[in-house]
Amino acid sequence: MTTPQHNPTAPARDWWRDAVIYQVYPRSFADGNGDGMGDLAGIRSRLPYLRDLGVDAVWLSPFYASPQADAGYDVADYRAIDPMFGTLADAEALIAEAHRLGLRIITDLVPNHCSDQHEWFRRALVEGPGSTARERFHFRKGRGENGEQPPNDWESLFGGPAWTRVPDGEWYLHLFAPEQPDFNWDHPAVHDEFRSILRFWLDLGVDGFRVDVAHGLVKAPGLPDMGHTGEQLKLLGNQPLPFFDQDGVHAIYRSWRTVLDEYDGERIAVAEAWTPTAERTALYLRPDELHQAFNFHYLGTSWDAAALREAIDASLDAMRPVGAPTTWVLSNHDVVRHRTRLGGDLARARAATLLMLALPGSAYLYQGEELGLPEVTDLPDEVRQDPSFFRDSGQDGLRDGCRVPLPWSGTEPPYGFGDGTGTGTGTGAGTGNGTGFGDGGSGSWLPQPADWAPLTVQAQTGDPASTLELYRTALNLRRTHPGLGAGDAVEWLDAPDGVLAFRRPGGLVCTVNATDAPARLPAPGRPILSSGHQLPVLDGDFILTPDTTIWWEE
Ligand code: NOJ
Repeated sequence: MTTPQHNPTAPARDWWRDAVIYQVYPRSFADGNGDGMGDLAGIRSRLPYLRDLGVDAVWLSPFYASPQADAGYDVADYRAIDPMFGTLADAEALIAEAHRLGLRIITDLVPNHCSDQHEWFRRALVEGPGSTARERFHFRKGRGENGEQPPNDWESLFGGPAWTRVPDGEWYLHLFAPEQPDFNWDHPAVHDEFRSILRFWLDLGVDGFRVDVAHGLVKAPGLPDMGHTGEQLKLLGNQPLPFFDQDGVHAIYRSWRTVLDEYDGERIAVAEAWTPTAERTALYLRPDELHQAFNFHYLGTSWDAAALREAIDASLDAMRPVGAPTTWVLSNHDVVRHRTRLGGDLARARAATLLMLALPGSAYLYQGEELGLPEVTDLPDEVRQDPSFFRDSGQDGLRDGCRVPLPWSGTEPPYGFGDGTGTGTGTGAGTGNGTGFGDGGSGSWLPQPADWAPLTVQAQTGDPASTLELYRTALNLRRTHPGLGAGDAVEWLDAPDGVLAFRRPGGLVCTVNATDAPARLPAPGRPILSSGHQLPVLDGDFILTPDTTIWWEE
């Protein structure tokens, strides 16, 4: 192993407070060896694309050794790279290259559960009931005369019971798939192990962690019934649950913060935390805990001016007391892409993006949104891979549709996906099989639609009307006008119903028409970027076309 790759010369102070962080889903970003599966070499070869896009940091979804029962969120070895993604040397090279290009790297940490192939769990199975190996997980006897009922009424988030019985009769807890046993965070060995894992990656130079299921590590003492069988999924994030957002999680994050703070360059952690209120989420972001949390409330807000304004104010209000930046996100690997979710209209998706990028705090982008990719809603069942699809009524069961590999170039699937090294041998050309998809063979692990040629990076580059160029311009302006991400409040201006207008520091104004009718309002200055048509100013007024956001300089 070479020396740590962190770049201490990069400006550090609070870099994360207004950072734009781009999520790479390694399977689907770029394929360096042409086997149809994205990998670390592919990502590395495309880092200049991300630098030129103008993002500050890259969050990588898991690339660790894993049987891939949940696309890598089932980790068998937290210190090893899955061979399908490359080697530890590839990870080091990726981190070093990112730093050379001025990009920070955030890795995904999965502390709630591991894989059933993790050494600890395999040992727990072998050593049997009563063994110390079992204490690192939640093993229990079942209910019923012969222990044939699960120990409590908890359900897996992927559908079905949250318990699986092993041949010796005991049951183990898994809030997700049966292949993802939950760690028992009451056991000190689990704490020690994760502090050591943090250090392993920090020593390798990563700039931070995205903490998976950060709200789930500690369970209520005694694992009490939740009493709402069948309703669990509806209650998520709405009301207290015995397996989520227990007060005990905060001691874990305080201890992690001391580890992060031992390192130079302001290493950060961002929580995936579903809690009943934004105020509960803010508790994870007290000054001695984590740095940011995803704003799922904003992600779930409909395209409605009043609802958006309320969500924006509520998010900012909740974070202010703890001094943490608010974050904004529209898409990720678990939800329907925002272009499709907001109604299928590209104009609306672009308007939503410019609104998000004008808000104070940090913004998360999901790979492909800069190309205006829609959700792929008609994947044939036989190519689906998401475990929630196979477990009845689990999550939305449709997460594959936002995970389709990116189109980079060319006119047919796999659209340059396998050209990740620039010299890649990935041909795998889609042959047009009559289904509207590429062949999905060696071309890409999920088939890409046959009509994505106009959406490739190559096709959009240099076209000022393209979504890719809109993102490039917007991110570049965010750099030259730091006021866009600054502060912890927005100054709302008068606007007609269905329209948002607000001022940002540095004399920038953002106007958003969230209706499907044109709106007329006073021009706040000189337009510097529009997500849609630019209409001339008339007698001091301008016409804001439907589903359009414009940035202005006063
Ligand atoms: C949240 C991740 O984003 C999702 O993809 C995964 O299935 C679950 N956590 C379980 O790790």
